[in-house]
Amino acid sequence: MYLTEHTYKSGQKCPKTNVPNGTKGGIMRVKVKCELLKKEKIIDGIYKFSVKAPDIAKDAKPGQFLEAKVSETGEPFLRRPISIFNINGDMIEFIFQVKGRGTELLAEREEGDLIDIMGPLGFGTFKVQEYGKVAIIGGGIGTYPLYELAKELKDKADVTMYMGFRNKDLVTLEKEFEEVSNKLVLTTDDGSYKEKGFAINFLKEDCKKEKPDMIFACGPLPMLKAVKEFATQEDIHCQISLEERMGCGIGACLGCAVKVKDGENFKYLHVCKEGPVFNAKDVEI
Ligand SMILES: Cc1cc2nc3c(=O)[nH]c(=O)nc-3n(C[C@H](O)[C@H](O)[C@H](O)COP(=O)(O)OP(=O)(O)OC[C@H]3O[C@@H](n4cnc5c(N)ncnc54)[C@H](O)[C@@H]3O)c2cc1C
Ligand code: FES
Repeated sequence: MYLTEHTYKSGQKCPKTNVPNGTKGGIMRVKVKCELLKKEKIIDGIYKFSVKAPDIAKDAKPGQFLEAKVSETGEPFLRRPISIFNINGDMIEFIFQVKGRGTELLAEREEGDLIDIMGPLGFGTFKVQEYGKVAIIGGGIGTYPLYELAKELKDKADVTMYMGFRNKDLVTLEKEFEEVSNKLVLTTDDGSYKEKGFAINFLKEDCKKEKPDMIFACGPLPMLKAVKEFATQEDIHCQISLEERMGCGIGACLGCAVKVKDGENFKYLHVCKEGPVFNAKDVEI
């Protein structure tokens, strides 16, 4: 993996890196200090950050993630993985929920601050190509990486998004998902907003009429397991993005290994390096 370091502030040009564009897969990873251009509180405990990061933005693909350094003091030590929500010119946007100390510290950053970010990470990305019909299913914070995917698929496929949240208070980005899909099915587990029940039940119902050519999924593990089981049973191609707990984020610590089919056998791959997106039928979850 090639790593190079820069600092980006608004109005500043991207410095020449003088390195060939990438190693494996033609993707170059960079470590950049990028300016937080816009900070938005989406709902309580969930923030959208827009940062200036041209070297990341130019190579980023849907499904890839960033590793953000959350503290300058070395505590917590590890960077925190966060998916790319939107690639917008020179800008990268990501959305995160405050879970523990790391994301709490990140949420304290203010506009104008520099954030140390490494990315784009993960060679296993969502495959964007021409499809007839696709279903994109997400749950909770797992809906965020699906936005850039839907945006890039919009002119290439008939996109139905099934976005599930626990309740009305946790529903985010309805308008944005509507804009990037042909049809949005929004569900809440308790029925406090839009359709009541799990998103997968609506996907299953629609599949009785017409099966999609591809299902893309990201969300909590029980949802991914159900999607994998359904796709396998119905013989529908399916790509799932895993959000395994991570250590280094670059394939060095084995902290994120998953079991993946290899012919008749199995092998272990890193979610951070060979993932986070895998073919559902191949990966054991
Ligand atoms: C590839 C990838 C992409 C991700 N994308 C996003 C994103 O777009 N938006 C977002 O809000 N979060 C995302 N996450 C999860 C995010 O990285 C964690 O919530 C964050 O690292 C928690 O750090 P913390 O220091 O705040 O909490 P910690 O103190 O480290 O943990 C607090 C709690 O969160 C749980 N937790 C930590 N990491 C994870 C995880 N990966 N999955 C489930 N539970 C976890 C812990 O078990 C603990 O209960 C992603 C994770 C991965 C691996
Ligand atoms: S997080 Fe270290 S190998 Fe994946």
